[in-house]
Amino acid sequence: MDKQIIRNTISSIDSKDYGAYQSIKGSYDFSLFKLIIQQIPKDPYAPPHTGIYRIQVNRNNEKVINLNLANKIHEIAFRDFLARQFYNACKRFSGGVRGTGYSGIITINKPDQSILERSCVVIDNDLIEIRCFIGLPAKGRKVSAEIAEQMLFHELPEIIEQSLLKKNIDVPSLIKHIGIAEDSQFLRDKLVELGLVAFIADQSILPRASGTSAKPMSRASAISFKPTESLKIEIDLPHFGKIRGMGIPAGVTLIVGGGYHGKSTLLNALELGIYDHIPGDGREYCVSLPKSVKIRAYSGRYIEKTDISPFIKNLPFQKDTTAFSTENASGSTSHAANIMEAIEVGAEVLLMDEDTCATNLMIRDMKMQELVNKNDEPITTFIDKVRQFYLKKNISTVLVLGGVGDYFDVADNVIQMIKYEPVDVTETAHRIAADSPFKREAEDDAYPFIIRERIPFAGSIDPTNKYGKFSVYVKETHRINFGKTVIDLTDLEQLIELSQTKAIALAIEYAKKYMNNDRTLREIIDLVSEDIKMNGLDIISPRISGNFAWFRGLELAFALNRLRGLDVGQKENN
Ligand SMILES: Nc1ncnc2c1ncn2[C@@H]1O[C@H](COP(=O)(O)OP(=O)(O)OP(=O)(O)O)[C@@H](O)[C@H]1O
Ligand SMILES: [Mg+2]
Repeated sequence: MDKQIIRNTISSIDSKDYGAYQSIKGSYDFSLFKLIIQQIPKDPYAPPHTGIYRIQVNRNNEKVINLNLANKIHEIAFRDFLARQFYNACKRFSGGVRGTGYSGIITINKPDQSILERSCVVIDNDLIEIRCFIGLPAKGRKVSAEIAEQMLFHELPEIIEQSLLKKNIDVPSLIKHIGIAEDSQFLRDKLVELGLVAFIADQSILPRASGTSAKPMSRASAISFKPTESLKIEIDLPHFGKIRGMGIPAGVTLIVGGGYHGKSTLLNALELGIYDHIPGDGREYCVSLPKSVKIRAYSGRYIEKTDISPFIKNLPFQKDTTAFSTENASGSTSHAANIMEAIEVGAEVLLMDEDTCATNLMIRDMKMQELVNKNDEPITTFIDKVRQFYLKKNISTVLVLGGVGDYFDVADNVIQMIKYEPVDVTETAHRIAADSPFKREAEDDAYPFIIRERIPFAGSIDPTNKYGKFSVYVKETHRINFGKTVIDLTDLEQLIELSQTKAIALAIEYAKKYMNNDRTLREIIDLVSEDIKMNGLDIISPRISGNFAWFRGLELAFALNRLRGLDVGQKENN
């Protein structure tokens, strides 16, 4: 339809009840773009995701930014860049809230510090499609035609021109954005070949602006990263060229050092090294293996038939720990379950920080061994397992520790952070360990290391609310409202964007199609991940949505593990 039609309709419904907006649903030709108004919320207070507004621009229009996209990484980074352009243009050219509820807002899902596949910008051979939010304006609950006209005929076209026209785009920045994504992936792929689990580039800015910001600390305040000589390596990147940095070798690595010397900050960089960072983030060339998992204790979580027996057995009152279930995990059991569940779905690296570990799962020191007989202690501590994980399962560990030197005995590498700079102190630590007259008894009893994979049952995953209606929604990055229950994701520290959580929430429901009472959780998340890789994020939702961002299959598994009411069977697997 011609755009004049929507103009006429809007002026004819001025001051009518909000429901009258339903009459502007349709597809309108604005010459540079097509606006498809597919779904309009019933009232101005309805949350943005309840509307579907699509903008399509022809890629063959020579005024529109276009690139030859050689591969999937280029495509994802290009889309991510356009999402940021659009988001920023909305901030500059939309008039903001004018009226009740979300009236007057034009926006798009907010992108953060990582380059991610996003469903708010999709492209095919012919079109770029942007899925945005348009808060059709109301005064009270009455249509505000004048503001609607201003939004659709002035603000929206300006935003689209600013974000998609070649003349408005800083092409070198775009090329850099794509180059960084490709270099990061190249680096990540290189890690295994080099025997590393992570790489932190020379001159990186690891600290963040504040505890609640993902943005970098200013270069003026931050001490930039300097690799320690013995772990220094140089890698030739496709775009950047030669880059120097610190490689963290596979095996068991300790990050030690005094309080406030930058240990957790370094570990955080490793946790988020699974993502490609945007230019200017400070961690552009800091990568870790794709299946690196941050592990921590989080008491209170739900656990369903997880085998935590490698760590905990003979609990009081014979509670079975090969299929341990609880509505309310303790510190040590949550920590053990988090480790075993990560391994169950293929974790390659465990990242732990003493700040968030259960001490009694990490170590029983000599004095405690003397006081509490091993027969009265259900826990085999991580110190007695960590080498077994590496030697038998090739699972590396990077552990931040300031207080427990006993770990020197089991570490391959010890890195000390001194005033935010790493120093290799492996030799000294090993000498101290060898010379020490005080030795704790190793308590690993060669317990057979079986991974019991679990088989989730679809029937136990109920997305309906008390009225029997499908009700799955997300308002916070670490919380999913799923049917009658809430999934608490507070301890999933590698989830970084609300859009990821929104995608995971729907992926839980989508994953049910692969649950046949035989497939394991690991097989299921692999199938879902493969579907997303082949078809894009749209596949997980029955309705078009601009609210999703890429997530790992691992986080999907971890979210499912925390769904109260989930029922599973077990399958032995060595
Ligand atoms: N390279 C850096 N330059 C400037 N400030 C930094 C740098 N690295 C970390 N910081 C800041 O120093 C403070 C302490 O860092 P961090 O939390 O990593 O220390 P830590 O060694 O883990 O301390 P603790 O042992 O108390 O847990 C934080 O506020 C952090 O933002
Ligand atoms: Mg710390």
